[in-house]
Amino acid sequence: MKKIFITGASSGIGKSLALAYAKKKCLIGLSSRRIEILNDVSKECKRLGGIPFVYELDVQNSEQCEIVSNTFIKDADGVDCVIANAGIGGDDQIYSGSSKSINNVLKTNILGVTNTLMPFIPYMREQRNGSLVCISSVASYVPLPFHGGYASSKIAIRMIFDSWRPTLERHNIRTISICPGFVDTPIVKGPARKLPMRSPDKAAEKFIKVIAKGKNTYVYPWHYKILIFIANIVPKWLYNYVIRTVFHKPIN
Ligand SMILES: NC(=O)c1ccc[n+]([C@@H]2O[C@H](COP(=O)([O-])OP(=O)(O)OC[C@H]3O[C@@H](n4cnc5c(N)ncnc54)[C@H](OP(=O)(O)O)[C@@H]3O)[C@@H](O)[C@H]2O)c1
Repeated sequence: MKKIFITGASSGIGKSLALAYAKKKCLIGLSSRRIEILNDVSKECKRLGGIPFVYELDVQNSEQCEIVSNTFIKDADGVDCVIANAGIGGDDQIYSGSSKSINNVLKTNILGVTNTLMPFIPYMREQRNGSLVCISSVASYVPLPFHGGYASSKIAIRMIFDSWRPTLERHNIRTISICPGFVDTPIVKGPARKLPMRSPDKAAEKFIKVIAKGKNTYVYPWHYKILIFIANIVPKWLYNYVIRTVFHKPIN
């Protein structure tokens, strides 16, 4: 029986991943800050045939992350896969005179990922097996006006995985970066909600297959690869001209 630990399991992609693993009769560690909602997700997991454990966790708190990772390893008697999924959006508040908003995104989306994953690595190294997963984003390939914090946080975690991969591979630990485009969850706000979006359940089913295969980096859905290709060949001056002309204010 596979033992999977997920952050941000109360909503969106994390919740859908939890339910999809429950259908596969896995043992699942569900964590996030909103414990009442997690308890509902836990009931649903049980109904689907999984064995859930619930942990209240703020990924910005590194001590809490260490305690919860050890507790999960004891509760589950091991760990096979850790999915650092918790993340927040939000614009940089570029004219606010304060770094509060952008720093909150950076803390959750970068330090939250390292806080989540690091405590599991010694255990995985010892057992010579495991998968570490981060939910990066297509935004890690394209500069986003007013969302520099978000875009850079998603590049950072992908780059951390690219840097760790050859080292951790020696211990049979896989590092999988998943880069979704728009998925229909509460993180997508404002006019972006009018864009085509994939359902979180469909996305989760695909992600589970990719995780099982141990793919290094996965862009979902595939057509975002075309957008990434175009974004990389368009001259920077042209990109900046379009952004300057079209986007004057934050989009959400
Ligand atoms: N949806 C998209 O279009 C899309 C695209 C690319 C990448 N992503 C990434 O996918 C991941 C999941 O997002 P989502 O779309 O599923 O959004 P979501 O529905 O808003 O879920 C975000 C999850 O993160 C948790 N979370 C936020 N801050 C946290 C903290 N400090 N400590 C612990 N948990 C925290 C939330 O739980 P609590 O509030 O209960 O703590 C919630 O469960 C994020 O990393 C996001 O950047 C999403």
